[in-house]
Amino acid sequence: MELKLEMPFLTAFVCAFLIQLTTSVASAYTLATNNASLLWGPYRPNLYLGIRPRVPESLLLGLMWGKLGEGEQNLRHTCEQNDGLAGYGWTAYDTRHGGTQTINDTRNMVDLTTEFVKLYEGQSAGNWGLRIRGTPRKDAPDDLKTSMVFYVAMEAMPGCESCQLDISVVRKGQDHEPYVESVDIHTKHPILGVGTIHIPHSKSLERQERFSYTTKHVDTAVKTMNVTGDRFWQAKQLFLDLLKNREGEENGTRKTMIPDEPGNGNVHFVQLVFQGSFEFDILYSSHAATRRMTPIELSDELERTLNSFKPQFASVFGPKVPFNRDSHIQFGQSLFSNLLGGLGYFYGDTKVDESHAPEYEETVPEFWEKAAKARQRNKPQTKGPYELLTHVPSRSVFPRGFLWDEGFHLLPVLDWDIGLALKVVQSWLALMDADGWIAREQILGSEARSKVPDEFQVQYPHIANPPTLFLIVSRYLDILSGEKKYIGHDSVYISDAEVRKRTLLELYAKLRRHYEWFRKTQFGDVETHSIPMASQGEGYRWRGRQKQYNYASGLDDFPRAEPPDISELHVDALCWVGVMAETLEKLAKATAINQDVIEYQKHYKGIAQNLEVVHWSKNRSMYCDTRIWESAHTYTCPPGYVSLFPFMTGFLGPTHPNLNATLNLIYDPEELWTPHGVRSLSPTSTRYGTGDNYWRGPIWININYMIIERLLDLATKPGPLQERCRQIYKELRRNVVETVHKSWLETGYAWEQYGPHGGHGQRTQHFTGWTALVVKIMAFPDLEPEERFSGKIESMMEEAKDHQRFSAGAVMVAFMLVVFFCVYRRRFARLWRAIRYR
Ligand SMILES: *[C@@H]1O[C@H](CO)[C@@H](O)[C@H](O)[C@H]1NC(C)=O
Ligand SMILES: *[C@@H]1O[C@H](CO)[C@@H](O)[C@H](O)[C@H]1NC(C)=O
Ligand SMILES: *[C@@H]1O[C@H](CO)[C@@H](O)[C@H](O)[C@H]1NC(C)=O
Ligand SMILES: *[C@@H]1O[C@H](CO)[C@@H](O)[C@H](O)[C@H]1NC(C)=O
Repeated sequence: MELKLEMPFLTAFVCAFLIQLTTSVASAYTLATNNASLLWGPYRPNLYLGIRPRVPESLLLGLMWGKLGEGEQNLRHTCEQNDGLAGYGWTAYDTRHGGTQTINDTRNMVDLTTEFVKLYEGQSAGNWGLRIRGTPRKDAPDDLKTSMVFYVAMEAMPGCESCQLDISVVRKGQDHEPYVESVDIHTKHPILGVGTIHIPHSKSLERQERFSYTTKHVDTAVKTMNVTGDRFWQAKQLFLDLLKNREGEENGTRKTMIPDEPGNGNVHFVQLVFQGSFEFDILYSSHAATRRMTPIELSDELERTLNSFKPQFASVFGPKVPFNRDSHIQFGQSLFSNLLGGLGYFYGDTKVDESHAPEYEETVPEFWEKAAKARQRNKPQTKGPYELLTHVPSRSVFPRGFLWDEGFHLLPVLDWDIGLALKVVQSWLALMDADGWIAREQILGSEARSKVPDEFQVQYPHIANPPTLFLIVSRYLDILSGEKKYIGHDSVYISDAEVRKRTLLELYAKLRRHYEWFRKTQFGDVETHSIPMASQGEGYRWRGRQKQYNYASGLDDFPRAEPPDISELHVDALCWVGVMAETLEKLAKATAINQDVIEYQKHYKGIAQNLEVVHWSKNRSMYCDTRIWESAHTYTCPPGYVSLFPFMTGFLGPTHPNLNATLNLIYDPEELWTPHGVRSLSPTSTRYGTGDNYWRGPIWININYMIIERLLDLATKPGPLQERCRQIYKELRRNVVETVHKSWLETGYAWEQYGPHGGHGQRTQHFTGWTALVVKIMAFPDLEPEERFSGKIESMMEEAKDHQRFSAGAVMVAFMLVVFFCVYRRRFARLWRAIRYR
C-alpha cells in the first residue's frame, strides 16, 4: 500500500508492462500454479451465476433475475432445462482468471452477459469482480423492467464468533428522488479474512463512454434475514416468500420489491430494478490485497483475460484442417469454456451403506434379488462432510461429481492447465476410503441431494466405476518423460522436482490401493470356465448388476447376459484393470519402486492373454462378455461399445490378428458405423433402441474420442492396416465433429448423446462434460498426405516465430524482473516466503 502511494506512476507502469508481457509472451511468469488463483470462482455451476470460494462453511453468492412483477414464474436461479432459454454458457473462460458468459432469456426478454475475473497476490489475498450487463431482446417492450437480485450468505453464521456479514447502504438524492449510491457488504471469516463486497451505483462516467445508453436504475431494496440450517441454497424460495408476504400491503407496485430493511443477519438480498439496457458491477476486495477492486481494474482485467484466452486456445487447441474456420473455433472455445465453467466446489455429507452385507458379494444365484432386499433392510449412514473440486457433466441435470466422467473431463483440462487437472485428481483421490473405494457419484450436501431421486442417493462400497482418473495420471507421466508435449499453463507439477516427486509418490500409494480394491471386489471366477490357456485370476465382473442394467460399468443399459449370472466375465472390466496395471507400471518406474514393476507386467500379460482365450469369440469375430451357460463357456455378443474395449484401451497393436475384425465392426454401416459417429449398439442386436435406449444405439462422444485417439495412433505406426486406420480415422473425426457442431449451430447447445439416425443432439441439453472432447478431436491432425506436409511447414514456421518472440520476450522479462525486484524488494521476499511455506 505505501509503495503504491510512493510511486504510483512507476508501479502502474511496471505492472501494466509485466502483465502485458506475461500474457502475450509466456504464461510461465503468471502465478498460475498458485493456490490463490483457484480460491474464488463460479464454483456453484448449478446456478446460472453462483460464486463461492473453495472454503467450506463460508460465503455463498448468487444471482437471480426476472421481468419485474412476474413473480415466481420466470425468476431464474438454478440452471434448468425447461427455462426455455435460447442459450447460455461461457463463451470464453479460464479457471485461473475468469471469463464471460451470455444468457439469452427469451421469456424475460433480456440477454444477459455476466463477466467474472479474479486478481490475486500471494497466497491469501484474492479480489474478484463481476459485471452484469442486460440488453432487452428485440421483442421486448420499450419500458421493460428487469429485476436483478444478488444475494450473499455466510454459512458459518450463527455459531462463528469471528464471522461477520454487515451491510451498509449509502443513500443520496433529494427527498423526491432518493437513490442508493452504493451498497457495501463487509465480510469476515476465519479463513478468508476481512473483505468488502461493493456494489456501486451503475451511473459512472466510464460506462457512459462505452455505451450509447445510460443505465436507468429505477429502484433498489436491501433485505437482511437470519436463515437457519442448510436453507441457504434455497435462496429463490426465500426471496419469493419475501415477495409473497408483501401481498396485501396497500401500495400495489411495491409488491414487486422485497421490503427495504437492511440489518444484521446471515443473508442479504440486494434487489436492483432497471429499465431497458443496464450494467452494474459487484466488486470484492480482500483487505489483505494491496489494492481494491474498482470498475476500471475490472475492465482492464476483463480485457486482458479475454485477449489472452483466444491466442492461448489457438496454441493449445487450435483446430486443424478442415475445422480451422471461425465457426469451429468459436464452437470449440464455447465448449471448452463451458467445460471449465462447470468446475464446482462441493461440500457436505453423503449417504453410504456400510453394512458390507454378504449379499453384496453377489456370489449366489439370483444375487440381484437378494442384494435388493439387503439394500432395503440396511440403513445407510450419513458420512462426512467431505469436499470435492470437480467438473460437472451438465450444469442443469448433473450438477455434481461423477467418477468416470471426470477422467474424460480432465483430458482436455490437462492440456490447458495440468496443475488444475492434478488438483482435481487429488481432490477425488482424497475421497478414497481405507479399502481403496471411491463412490462413483458424489452427492454432497442437501443441495446436491435435492436433484437426485432417493433410490440413487446411497453409495455402496462394493460398487466400482471405470477408473478413468488413471488416464490422467498416465498422461502426466508421459509429459514428464517427454513422450507427450505440454504447452498449457505453467505448473509446479512439471517444473518443481520436489513437488513432482511428492505428487508421484502420493498418486502411487492411492492408485495402488484402488487397484487392489478393484481386483479384490470385482473379481470374476475364471476357473469355472475351465479354459486351460487362461490366466487364472485375470477375469472381472462388475458388482451391482441388475436385470437389464449394469450401472457400475458406466454403460448403464448396454446389453449384458440375461439374467445376470455369477459366472459372468465382463470384457470392459478386464480392460480397465489393464489400463490401471499399465499406469501403475509406469508410475512404479517413475518413483523407482522397482519391485512392483514385475507384478504389474505379470498382471498385464495375463490380461492380454485372457482377452484372447477367454473373451475372443472366433465364431463372432469379436471380443465379448462371457459366462457359463448350460455348463459351457459361452459368449454374450451384442455388437457394440463393449466389444471395442480391447481396441480402445490399446491392447490391439498394429499387427494384432484381431485388429482388422475390430475395424470391420467399427466401420460396417450394418453394425456400428453411422455418418454421425460410432453408435453404442448394432441394429443387428435384438435390444437395439429398446428400453431406456440410453446405451443401446445412441452415439456417445467419450467413446468416439477413445476410438479416434486409437485410430490416430495406429495410423502413424507401420503395419498392414495403417492405411485403413488412417482412412477410418479421417472419416470418423470429421463425422463426429460435424455432428456435434451442426447440432450446436441448430440448437445452441451441446448434448449428452447424438441420435444414430440423423445425428440430432438428444437427452440432456447443455451437456458440456465429455461432449467437450470434440475440442481435442478438432485439434488432432487431419492426416491428409498433402496437408500433413504443408501442416508440417506451417508448424515449423510457427515454431520459429514462437522462438523469436520468446527470445525477445525473455530479454524484456529479465529486464522487467530486475526493475520489479528493485521496486518490490520487500513484498517479493514476503511472497517468496509464502510460496515456500505453502
Ligand atoms: C445472446 O445474447 C448475446 C449477447 O447479447 C447476443 O450477442 C446473441 O446474439 C444472443 N443469441 C441469441 C441466440 O439470442
Ligand atoms: C439476526 O440475528 C441477530 C443475532 O441474533 C439479531 O441481532 C438480528 O436482529 C437478526 N436479524 C434479523 C433480520 O432478524
Ligand atoms: C456360430 O455362429 C452361428 C451363427 O452365427 C451359430 O449358428 C453357431 O451355432 C455358432 N457356433 C458355435 C460353435 O457357437
Ligand atoms: C480386413 O478386412 C476387410 C473386410 O473383411 C478385408 O477386405 C481386408 O482384406 C482385410 N485386410 C487385411 C489386411 O486383412
